[in-house]
Amino acid sequence: MQETGLSQDIVYTGVPGLDELLGGGVPRGTTIILEGNPGTGKTTLGIQFLLEGARQYGESGIYITFEELPEQIYRDMSGFGWDLRELERQNKLRIICLEPDVLLDQMMRTDGLFEQLIREIDCKRVVIDSISLFRTLGGIQTDGREQIYSIRNIMRKFNLTAFFLREYGEWEGRSTPFENYVCDGIIRLSLREHLEKYRKRTIEILKMRGTCIVEGEHHYRFMKDGICILPALSMVEDKILSDGVDRLSTGIESLDELLLGGLPQGSAFMLDSNSKANYKYLMTSIYAERIKQGDCVLFMLSGLSSVETLEQSLQLFGASLREAALEERVFFIDHYHRKVAPEYENLIVYVDRLSNEEYQKKVYEAINPHFRETIVQGKRWFIHYDLNTIISERGREFVKRHFADEMARCRAAGITVLCQSNFTEIGLETASFLERASNGVIRTWVDGSYQYLQITKSPGGRMSAPHIVDNIRDRPYVRLI
Ligand SMILES: Nc1ncnc2c1ncn2[C@@H]1O[C@H](COP(=O)(O)OP(=O)(O)OP(=O)(O)O)[C@@H](O)[C@H]1O
Ligand SMILES: [Mg+2]
Repeated sequence: MQETGLSQDIVYTGVPGLDELLGGGVPRGTTIILEGNPGTGKTTLGIQFLLEGARQYGESGIYITFEELPEQIYRDMSGFGWDLRELERQNKLRIICLEPDVLLDQMMRTDGLFEQLIREIDCKRVVIDSISLFRTLGGIQTDGREQIYSIRNIMRKFNLTAFFLREYGEWEGRSTPFENYVCDGIIRLSLREHLEKYRKRTIEILKMRGTCIVEGEHHYRFMKDGICILPALSMVEDKILSDGVDRLSTGIESLDELLLGGLPQGSAFMLDSNSKANYKYLMTSIYAERIKQGDCVLFMLSGLSSVETLEQSLQLFGASLREAALEERVFFIDHYHRKVAPEYENLIVYVDRLSNEEYQKKVYEAINPHFRETIVQGKRWFIHYDLNTIISERGREFVKRHFADEMARCRAAGITVLCQSNFTEIGLETASFLERASNGVIRTWVDGSYQYLQITKSPGGRMSAPHIVDNIRDRPYVRLI
């Protein structure tokens, strides 16, 4: 463990998945309430926090129980293969069973038993199972608040990171219990019916001072070696694509953050949007960035976007399509045979009135020589692939037959592809096929008076939370919140 001063000193719980939900860990010296119904796993999680502290981070801990004898805990926890007695022998752990008033008495004394014990094993972590008993101790009038407050202060005084276990629901119907205000965090374990078929165990962080948490309910499981938390929205990681690959900035800082730096070079991403959503800024920002970086870009023009409109919108982002054309690093495919300025004439491939075979042949013959030439110069390629246009002009079958192949070839050549699509219009079956064939999906949609954006698939295997797309006055005109 690094000792870098209080504010930066983070305590890793070491419980699989939990630190991820806690935005890394918890600040040292915090007191966290861990609540749940009987059998939800409070004791297990508490012990695991101490055990992992000792095993992974060399931090000793004390487990204070009012309800169970140490023998019972040794026995229950041996079910997970944990030898707590051995940890005690190594001075990494103490399990003590006391009456609550005795504990308080010893805690309040300078150089009392508690302080001695802390020094003896250089204790860093404490679990109290459970604080519910203090209520009866304090009497109805005080609600145990004085006792709980004192203990919390003692934890702070010794810079101990503590879990206070509590029965959930015991204060239901009454006003918010005092300790909810004085403790730094609240974690709730729940076990409830799910779809009337099975019971689901979930963990939720309701409060945590000083860390950025992952909100929502997350599944947890009892494994043979303890509790394992499965953070929601996480999937199996695709290591091959995420490791050591260059990231292409989208020009939108907050979107780059969601994409862990940008679009991975050589990946195929979908931008799925409904017609109400304004995806133009998102798209244009991405292309403007490529053009500014000196990459080669192939644009498949849609019925709505011509070279002219593209030039104008890129101008807004400070990218000059004309200059890029003069350097022969922008190319266009047009299904609608629109006239262009002379600079663009030899860079546009007209594909109207061509059969699918002719179309493929023509595009290949027109683009491939440029591709070969520029690749030797070490240039990067980026393709804007308008799936809506391809589907309306070439048909669904064409997409199904060739899309996966085309993407695989691009990937192999290190070409990054952004496909614009509207999954709802395309239909469920084709959409899910496309989703499978691409490395990532960015969805944007309008609901009520807000536009949202969410990464629903990424090469790193992570899904993002939905973000609100906010308009701003200056470039890149949008940000995610
Ligand atoms: N390998 C295992 N060893 C021990 N318990 C296990 C194991 N696998 C699952 N469990 C479950 O863990 C639960 C025990 O959890 P734990 O004692 O930590 O809960 P708790 O919230 O502290 O309960 P209580 O409120 O009764 O103290 C048991 O209900 C048991 O079904
Ligand atoms: Mg228990």
